[in-house]
Amino acid sequence: MFSKTSFVAALALAASASAAMQHTIIVGDVNGDTVYTPPYLVSLVLRLDATQPYLLEAQDADVGDQLIFEFQQKNHSAVQSTFDNPCTSNGGFNSGFFPVSAAQTDNFPTFTVPVKDKNPIWVYCAQNANLPTSHCGMGMVFAANPGFVFDAFRAKALAIGAKLKAEGLASSIRASATASLKPINIAAPSALPVTHTIIVGDANGDTIYTPPFLDANVGDQLIFEFQQKNHSAVQSTFDNPCTSNGGFNSGFHPVPVGQTSEFPQFAVTVKDKNPIWVYCAQNAGLPTSHCGMGMVFGANPGNKFDAFKQKALAIGAQLKAQASATSTTTGDVTVTRTITSEGSTMTQYKTFQPLQPPFQSIPTLSAH
Ligand SMILES: *[C@@H]1O[C@H](CO)[C@@H](O)[C@H](O)[C@H]1NC(C)=O
Ligand SMILES: *[C@@H]1O[C@H](CO)[C@@H](O)[C@H](O)[C@H]1NC(C)=O
Repeated sequence: MFSKTSFVAALALAASASAAMQHTIIVGDVNGDTVYTPPYLVSLVLRLDATQPYLLEAQDADVGDQLIFEFQQKNHSAVQSTFDNPCTSNGGFNSGFFPVSAAQTDNFPTFTVPVKDKNPIWVYCAQNANLPTSHCGMGMVFAANPGFVFDAFRAKALAIGAKLKAEGLASSIRASATASLKPINIAAPSALPVTHTIIVGDANGDTIYTPPFLDANVGDQLIFEFQQKNHSAVQSTFDNPCTSNGGFNSGFHPVPVGQTSEFPQFAVTVKDKNPIWVYCAQNAGLPTSHCGMGMVFGANPGNKFDAFKQKALAIGAQLKAQASATSTTTGDVTVTRTITSEGSTMTQYKTFQPLQPPFQSIPTLSAH
């Protein structure tokens, strides 16, 4: 039997080994992005071992630490899930939804989760669950102690999102097919559908859509034709030009220099006369963001295309300013080791991101 004193002494010893930490995770942000910041907690130790010389060991949230989810703009939650089913509650903790208005700047609501063991803790935002706009499906996931499989976890969430989007598209096509059974075409023989081709990029690698805007009728098709570089066409809103609104997303289409024909295409059917706002998601969130460089397009923009492009350029300017302000503390860190043995050389490397003190520390390299 443990005496009460020895039990307390053991606890004190465990506590003195490493002080309990509070890890704050920002949920959402002032731009309404569907992100947890940081996306995962991990610090890394690179150590040497006689049999497996370059072993990487992950050390992250400790027993007794607290995860503090701080809810910012939009209406997010933090729900525990599993690695296998990222977007489904495992019956563990659930913060509920915290709507935060766009104007709020402090006193954000928080939700605290104690870290009970060193097992991974998988978390997602349950907003718009099972809809094409599912936050989890857009990759809004977080993990404490994920080891090296955080990327795989997020990829699973994004795959669920892609499936939900495909199902949403299929049902909207079914709905519009049903609607078109009504004899409206007989009454409007003059408005034959038109195909509008928008060239994305060009042989010089410019970050442009040509034409940058156009007017289209219901039933027309927008054909995005991808030329040189590696661009995409993602639907956004006038207010947030560089953020997906959960609508269409062509994915990236890399086209090599020298290709002169058979460019990949992506078609969008115009469903109504509302404006359709589009941007290129290449280098999103980086100072070299294509959207931030003004790579945007509008169908039926009215007289608002210039204002839309100005908003995108303002985001680009902000990303550039942030990068120059924080370039000493953020960005990927690549740990590289070169092993030379009996004349042959091998380089091992791994890239970690993002490094944001105090959550993570720069990998420690130690040699024996
Ligand atoms: C927040 O989201 C939940 C779940 O979608 C919803 O039920 C609730 O009405 C939303 N609250 C606000 C204020 O938008
Ligand atoms: C195209 O861009 C995407 C997104 O940045 C990237 O994941 C992909 O590797 C790129 N493809 C090529 C061939 O450069």
